[in-house]
Amino acid sequence: MAKVLLLAGDGIGPEIAAEAKLALERLAPGVEVEEALIGAAAIRATGSPLPDETVAAAHAATAVLKGPVGDPEFDAADVRPEQGLLKLRAELDAYANLRPSVQGDVDLLIVRELVGGLYFGARGVREDGTVFDTCEYHPDQVERIVRRGFALAEGRRGRLTSVDKANVLDTSRLWRRVVDRVAPEYPDVQVEHMLVDNAAMQLATSPEQFDVIVTENMFGDILSDLAAAVTGGLGLAPSASLSDSGPGIFEPVHGSAPDIAGRGIANPAAMLRSTALLLEHGLGLYDEGRALARAVDAALALAPTPDLGGSATTAELGAKVREQLEVEARP
Ligand code: NAD
Ligand code: IPM
Ligand code: MN
Repeated sequence: MAKVLLLAGDGIGPEIAAEAKLALERLAPGVEVEEALIGAAAIRATGSPLPDETVAAAHAATAVLKGPVGDPEFDAADVRPEQGLLKLRAELDAYANLRPSVQGDVDLLIVRELVGGLYFGARGVREDGTVFDTCEYHPDQVERIVRRGFALAEGRRGRLTSVDKANVLDTSRLWRRVVDRVAPEYPDVQVEHMLVDNAAMQLATSPEQFDVIVTENMFGDILSDLAAAVTGGLGLAPSASLSDSGPGIFEPVHGSAPDIAGRGIANPAAMLRSTALLLEHGLGLYDEGRALARAVDAALALAPTPDLGGSATTAELGAKVREQLEVEARP
């Protein structure tokens, strides 16, 4: 039997995870949902942001559904919630982070490398007090994510924008060489290189020009918040983090939103859309995933949350989504 590991996370995490769980149980009643700890909640309970039991449960799962982690209480601590998330991504080798943004005439997909670069390079403190983080990429690490980008572009509108900072960084020049080397294998894809500062400007001013954007870890982190902002906001943006084999991680682009946590007003749409991606890509339940995505679209128009200018609570939007699933299921 397929098994989903649900990691509710911190801040608004438990509030939006509750809605995702109800939708998942409705759409995939045969799927077992197991819960485990990550982030600040895990540190408080066990001292670790990613306990061994959670790692084992993730490896044993068909897919992982994750809420955001992070709590201001631990911002200055040595052991931080976010370390649990980075370790989980590395453990599952979930290197291909797909972050779609769709609204109006914008339909773009950011393909972000997720287990390399500045996040995972050498770091430390020198004797003189200098602190350093290092951006490192092996050519194979670049090639596998770039190939993902090409393959995804092939199945869409056939346009790939590779974003880098090749005018400054050696890792970006490696990135460009790899893109140019594999490009001839994808003759149906039209590829362009774009510097990251210009890409930010282009995303802000004419996001409709993009089909697939492939980029390294940190650039993809920043550009995906920007892409979300210009297509309705962070409360709407889902993601799927896939490996070549083994369970993927499905989670919103946004964080734990400590400023609104505990008030029941967070937008659960990003988490529900991540659940739709999980159904589709994680469990192979294509029709169920599409049905959930459509239900979220319909419910958002009927019961928008405060971040969208409405007044629906998290639970009200979640209930509206389930209601829409029923409406659609009626003959
Ligand atoms: P954030 O994404 O949590 O919040 C940014 C702004 O967007 C806030 O005003 C917040 O209220 C709003 N927002 C975010 N999601 C929303 C939703 N679903 N509905 C309504 N409003 C929403 O970013 P931040 O404040 O910089 O980070 C808070 C914490 O989250 C930090 O500890 C950070 O490390 C963590 N974080 C975790 C993840 C993750 O687990 N994948 C992602 C991003 C940030
Ligand atoms: C995201 C988050 C994470 C990242 C943090 C919390 C480690 O911002 O998923 O976008 O930078 O990858
Ligand atoms: Mn981010």
